[in-house]
Amino acid sequence: MTRTVYLNGEYLPETEAKVSIFDRAFLMADGVYEVTSVLGGKLIDFEGHLKRLERSLNELEMKKPAAFDDLLEIHRKLVELNGIDEGLIYLQVTRGAPGDRDFAFPDPETTEPTLVLFTQSKPGLADNPTAKKGIKVISIDDIRWGRRDIKTVQLLYPSMGKMMAKKAGADDAWMVEDGFVTEGTSNNAYIVKDGKIITRNLSTDILHGITRAAVLAFAREAQMAVEERPFTIDEVKAADEAFYTSASSFVMPVVEMDGAAIGTGTPGPVAARLREIYLAESLKVAI
Ligand code: PDD
Repeated sequence: MTRTVYLNGEYLPETEAKVSIFDRAFLMADGVYEVTSVLGGKLIDFEGHLKRLERSLNELEMKKPAAFDDLLEIHRKLVELNGIDEGLIYLQVTRGAPGDRDFAFPDPETTEPTLVLFTQSKPGLADNPTAKKGIKVISIDDIRWGRRDIKTVQLLYPSMGKMMAKKAGADDAWMVEDGFVTEGTSNNAYIVKDGKIITRNLSTDILHGITRAAVLAFAREAQMAVEERPFTIDEVKAADEAFYTSASSFVMPVVEMDGAAIGTGTPGPVAARLREIYLAESLKVAI
């Protein structure tokens, strides 16, 4: 089925949505994005994603392409037009297409940002069988730039990380800097030790995950102990459990690191409980 996508004010068949070759995202990776999940036709953690988008735009001195209410309306319309029950909405804002290549930013008065949104239908996203099996990760060096808190479209190294994992017979990679895990290629990383949930503290070293914020709040509400600090690969291997969070996977158990089983080598109870709580609670406030 041909999707209907959104491009700069228009709803178009995906085959007809075209962006200039001079677009700054195409030439310079000068763009930011968000991925919001859809469950039961409703948007999960939408406000959080929009707040982070606003922050990414501010950090890069980029113009806001539309008001919050308009962006909400576009998300809802795409869900409706494409009949999305479970899936994802991808949103990208770029610094626009100034008509030539230049390292200097174009004048925002004359170059409008490019705004693109499209849906990805993923039936079974909530009831994902992988969450019952858990996934395998490898560790790789984190060689990304120093502003990982900004959600830019510079995703070449994370893509390479996924390929390194695939080649090693694993599903994903956790990145390591100065001996400590930063995050997964497209998710935030956690371990559980003696009942305590440990995840790296927020800084410019990692993306401030919207799912992370919600999951940690639910964990604290449920009286679970949470510690926000960096941890090592040795700690991952010695942990009782490990898992990751993201808008596209929610809470995903990790059962193997660099070929070594974590805990029992099967998804642990803390990850399973957090996944259940997150799905139930975030659905209640989905819009
Ligand atoms: N990735 N860390 C990185 C590097 C990410 O790319 C993501 C999300 C996260 C988790 O953030 P959130 O909980 O807000 O989704 C952490 C999205 C899903 C993606 O690139 O597809």
